[in-house]
Amino acid sequence: MIRMCFLLSLLVSAFAMADEPVMTDFGKTKDGKAVELYTLKSDSGLVAKVMTRGATLVQIHVPDKDGKSEDVILGWDDVAGYESEDNQYFGCTTGRVCNRIANGKFSLDGKDYSLAINNEPNHLHGGVERSLDKVVWKARPYTTDSGHGVRFKYTSPDGEEGYPGTVTAQVSFFVAKDANRINITYKATTDAATPINLTNHAYFNLGGAGSETVMDHVLQLNADRYTPTDDTLIPTGEITAVAGTPLDFTKPKRIGARIEKLTDTAALGYDHNFVLNPRPDDQNYNFAAFLRHKESGRTLRIWTQEPGIQFYSGNFLEGQTGKGGKTYAHRSAICLETQHYPDSVNHKSFPTTILKPGDEYKTSTLLHFGIAKDQADN
Ligand code: GLA
Repeated sequence: MIRMCFLLSLLVSAFAMADEPVMTDFGKTKDGKAVELYTLKSDSGLVAKVMTRGATLVQIHVPDKDGKSEDVILGWDDVAGYESEDNQYFGCTTGRVCNRIANGKFSLDGKDYSLAINNEPNHLHGGVERSLDKVVWKARPYTTDSGHGVRFKYTSPDGEEGYPGTVTAQVSFFVAKDANRINITYKATTDAATPINLTNHAYFNLGGAGSETVMDHVLQLNADRYTPTDDTLIPTGEITAVAGTPLDFTKPKRIGARIEKLTDTAALGYDHNFVLNPRPDDQNYNFAAFLRHKESGRTLRIWTQEPGIQFYSGNFLEGQTGKGGKTYAHRSAICLETQHYPDSVNHKSFPTTILKPGDEYKTSTLLHFGIAKDQADN
């Protein structure tokens, strides 16, 4: 009997092992740091791969309506790809502050700060050399009853990329066993007041990364309003209704249907921060976005605790060569970046992005993949 129990427990642990995140070597950065890649799987076919450089989503495979799996995010097969000029923040954790800070300047507690200008005339996505997408994070895989994940940790020293405070940031990617869902949770603490606004910058094409366009995808956003910008994509401070504009995605709409009306604007297409409608009091997450690709039947629903979402239609993609030699053409992927509004540090009327010592920054976003039940056109 004892022997039977022992054998049984061996068998159970063998299965449990098979469930746990698998780590492989992803190569080295150009300054010689080893990069690890972790594979996370659900029981219904989702396979996600995340790496320690930039706490980055490298692959997400999900089945289509016929059960055929495809990688639905842009990226590269090696670290060198991610380090190249071609990388426009593919799949990374973006920060310390995602999106733009006007002229790279802000004041906090009576002190003026100047950050790198890497998107003339503004600061973009946390800076140049040591932004959170470019550093190598420490990883710790974990397993719970409901699934498994990887927790990435990085301590950014005081003054890194010009930001005040030593910030300890954590990002975990958790894949539920019973659903094709990735839960991304961000946490941070600091020893001095500092702005923080973290997001993930995955580029999705639900027809498979490398498909020609994303203009045929149907998108719905839970946003009646957006934050208009000046010609350098800095919010003016106004919050304006989307009704009657090409930004009205309150009902599902084909992305390509009205984009040409925006081609000659500063955004060059869609590149706007949408103000999510308020989260119902009894809900932990707010519905943010629904994306559907008719041909494959794949869908993506995004739920978040953030007040905004940047919808960017890949206007700067320029035909770079990515995973498996595939070409990433202009507007062939879409980013849906859950976030606080851009340049919040310079707008008192926006929800604050200032983290203070003793407080914890904590926010989650869910990426829930599925298959469309009906193929109704929009
Ligand atoms: C964000 C910005 C875009 C662009 C991309 C990266 O989505 O809003 O303007 O900078 O990142 O290329």
